[in-house]
Amino acid sequence: MFITLEGPEGSGKTSHLQPLAEWLAGKGYRVHTAREPGGTSISEQIRAVIHDLKNTEMHPHTETLLYQAARAQIVEQVIRPKLAKGYIVLCDRYADSTLAYQGYGHQQNLEEVRALIRYATGGLVPDLTILLDVDVEVGLKRKTKNDTEWNRLDAYDLEFHQRVQAGYLEMAKQEPGRWVVVDAGKEWEKVQKQLRRIILKKQAESEIRLTPQTLR
Ligand code: TMP
Repeated sequence: MFITLEGPEGSGKTSHLQPLAEWLAGKGYRVHTAREPGGTSISEQIRAVIHDLKNTEMHPHTETLLYQAARAQIVEQVIRPKLAKGYIVLCDRYADSTLAYQGYGHQQNLEEVRALIRYATGGLVPDLTILLDVDVEVGLKRKTKNDTEWNRLDAYDLEFHQRVQAGYLEMAKQEPGRWVVVDAGKEWEKVQKQLRRIILKKQAESEIRLTPQTLR
């Protein structure tokens, strides 16, 4: 099963990933965690270029393509092989980040961006995507306060980040079978509990779906 966590800056995704992975491993599942952009040596090198605060002249097209280059590598080198071996892959951001940030944020043509994503991922779509939704200003403040890695995209203006958040909510509305929206403004423990419930439900649904084939 392929699960992705998405959300605007400061939504707390990253702090939830490892505890979720440990909880799933405790239940006997084989779990692999990854983050995007990154997760392979090549993808981490591309991440450094995209996020470098000095690269102020980077064009949105360049930015979009670099994210896809990093993604193509992790999909082929890590995600597909792990899924084929029966792992649950938990990923901190994936292709929906490109639609939210480069598509909605930079107001680029969404169909063109989707075509690039299809090329980069070979059509690999998550089984479950959880949107950790947080007020943009609260999220950005959280991020500065917690002193986590501040990157070139964080430095875009407030309107950009508001378009990103609105884009996420729009995507979640368009594809309710894959997306679940969680209010990430709540206490951390409450959010973690809710994430676990959502994953268990999805896991149960996918096991039910698998049963008839297994019996054949
Ligand atoms: P994070 O590690 O703090 O989540 O930072 C990743 C940054 O990269 C964040 O600002 C969102 C951005 N991003 C995109 O703009 N497009 C993408 O496709 C991905 C994966 C991330």
